[in-house]
Amino acid sequence: VTKMSKLQDAEVLTPEGFPPYVLDTIAKIMVNEGAVQCGFCTPGFISRTKVLLQDNPTPDIEEIRKAIKPHLCRCTGYKKIESAIEKSAKAIHANEQVELRKTSGRVGVSHPKYEAYHTAIGKRKFVDDIFLKEMLYAALKFSDHPRAKILKIDISEAEKLPGVHRVFAAHDIPGEQYVGLILQDWPVMLKEGQVTNYIGDVLAGVVAESDEIARQAIDLIKVDYEVLTPLTDVFEAMDGERIHPERPNNFETTQFTIGDADEVIKKADFVSSGRYETQRVEHGFLEKEAAVARPDGKGGMEIFSQSQGVYEDRRQIAMILNLPEEKVRVVLVPNGGGFGGERRLKHPGTDGPVCLFDEPACEAHIKT
Ligand code: FES
Repeated sequence: VTKMSKLQDAEVLTPEGFPPYVLDTIAKIMVNEGAVQCGFCTPGFISRTKVLLQDNPTPDIEEIRKAIKPHLCRCTGYKKIESAIEKSAKAIHANEQVELRKTSGRVGVSHPKYEAYHTAIGKRKFVDDIFLKEMLYAALKFSDHPRAKILKIDISEAEKLPGVHRVFAAHDIPGEQYVGLILQDWPVMLKEGQVTNYIGDVLAGVVAESDEIARQAIDLIKVDYEVLTPLTDVFEAMDGERIHPERPNNFETTQFTIGDADEVIKKADFVSSGRYETQRVEHGFLEKEAAVARPDGKGGMEIFSQSQGVYEDRRQIAMILNLPEEKVRVVLVPNGGGFGGERRLKHPGTDGPVCLFDEPACEAHIKT
């Protein structure tokens, strides 16, 4: 992770500019060592390896660990990356020709990851690398407050900005206003009079000729709020004011019973009791959220998504657009990590609106 401000007047060298032997050797060893999983981070690690080796051709493990400190990998746990860098140093120092590991292809044999080499050298496309002909760009207006009543959404200035094609709001949704993987309680967009539940709630969206114009237009959307106090403590929430009026805040309790606890406690030499809590876990995938949609020319929609659940996405997108499911096709683009965080419809504010903006009548290709 490097601050963009640090790159002012700097020379930036990406893997495309590396000596082919160096790039090829490090990439093949990364693949052979199993250091490429989702691969989103791999070109960065390869770049770091190249820079490290040009200053220090034979680094030890501590020097490798120090060198890769600014890098994040969510998938591998770093061990395989460290080992790949160590082996790359030895191979390059000895001018060795490295080949990709070949396997018999039989069941029970470990295989190199599919398309891992292309991923390692940064050639495999993630969703945000997809550019379609004459594509438009969408950006979203998120809530400025975690909990606030929306009094007024004024899109008039955004609509006037040159290059803006259209500004969408909740009343433009032709189908279901709420979607969700487990409960259907996630608003695609909120409208005036409704209350936000977090700063990720979407209030409007802009479609424009460029990403920059779309984001400028978002800044021109004026929203008046009545700011409310958010409920952020889970224990207070158990007895607190309902977040969703139609159900209690604690809407599900899971209880496991394994064996006869009372009997075991009776016979135990020591008994300890208490309240036990686990930490909050965020999926933490590195790839940023994006979606690309285009009309299929037959009244339907094709969406390129980084989702872990394309059929569930299809169901919910069809609901939002009020289309039969067979009119929606969701194409899975391998993602930059998921860990369960990509199981839901990407974000009603990403996959959902990108299709809404791109309703068949739009005849446009749009990226959010
Ligand atoms: S392989 Fe490193 S983030 Fe996925």
